[in-house]
Amino acid sequence: MEKPLLAVLQGQSLATPPIWMMRQAGRYLPEYRKVRETAGSFMKLCFNPELAAEVTLQPLRRFGFDGAILFSDILVVPHALGQTVTFEAGEGPRLEGLIDRSGLGRLGSRLDEAVVQPVYETVRRVRRDLPPGVTFLGFCGAPWTVATYMVAGRGGDDQAAARMFAYRDPEGFQLLIDRLVEASVEYLAGQVEAGVEVVQIFDTWAGILPDAEFRRWSVEPIARIVSGLRQRAPGVPVIVFPKGAGSRLAWMLETGPDAVGLDWAADAAFVSREIQPRVAVQGHIDPLALKAGGAALDGAVDAALAAFGSGRYIFNLGHGIQPDTPIAHVEQMVARVRAWRRG
Ligand code: CP3
Repeated sequence: MEKPLLAVLQGQSLATPPIWMMRQAGRYLPEYRKVRETAGSFMKLCFNPELAAEVTLQPLRRFGFDGAILFSDILVVPHALGQTVTFEAGEGPRLEGLIDRSGLGRLGSRLDEAVVQPVYETVRRVRRDLPPGVTFLGFCGAPWTVATYMVAGRGGDDQAAARMFAYRDPEGFQLLIDRLVEASVEYLAGQVEAGVEVVQIFDTWAGILPDAEFRRWSVEPIARIVSGLRQRAPGVPVIVFPKGAGSRLAWMLETGPDAVGLDWAADAAFVSREIQPRVAVQGHIDPLALKAGGAALDGAVDAALAAFGSGRYIFNLGHGIQPDTPIAHVEQMVARVRAWRRG
């Protein structure tokens, strides 16, 4: 059976775009919350193949999305490099911070295979049970975004700790980024070998960097991951999502992606002129428009379809769905997209 999401990534433009949602497996779903409770902790859920496969498939049963994204987290990579990651309920990630070069010595030089094996087992299970026509996406965090959590030891909104490390000791910070580039290639190749068909690289914090640092810490490491993966897994499409990049989305084309992810503030005219003629684009719906629902949501859906629907487009949000989003709003969005045809 034809897979619409894969077809768009391979160069087709469809009369109705395929649809999935970033963070589609998550807390807005009661069935996710139930499984998450059984698992004990978020990290235990990530490393439990049976339960992780189940939550990967949950949103497909409800909404019939065209894509399934592996249930895991970008912080599995630091965890598998020996920097223990925990999630406290309602508080986000906690890691032992790595504020300067001296902390690098505590990291493994490569991914601990024993730690990531359960993730690959999740991939094999999902692939086995994947509904026909659904494309299976794997992912990793981009080195810059993963480094911001590794350095600060937690999430934040200005990423000051990583920016200071990078300004004070660029060579030391480069060592951390290089370690992450290698580990990410290994991790993505392992996911492909186990059965994912597409990968997405999430650079959630790219937009906070000035131009020169954006190039050095976001564009260059992602380009190295894409070319490393192309050698290990030729033909597997790559989606790059540099949140907040603005007009520097065009720089991301240098990484050689098959699609670029758009946050909700991306300039639609700029994207359809400079980006979409070259690669597929994905995203753009403000997660808060989805949470608000009603006319705000219909307006956002219509605007995205009008801007991007006649080219290579994958319908998605501009960032992950928020936990307190009503399920009925997701149904409203899916129905509106599915009813649309290119004029
Ligand atoms: O459905 C999916 O998209 C697949 C699974 C997935 C998760 N995280 C599950 C998750 C994916 C692709 C991610 C990516 C991720 N993780 C990113 C990049 C994308 C983005 O959203 O910016 C980042 C920065 C992380 C790191 C992370 N994970 C943080 C900062 C947090 C805490 C904040 C929060 O939303 O809770 C997480 C936790 C997390 N990752 C949850 C889920 C379902 C919620 C945890 C829980 O169930 O208790």
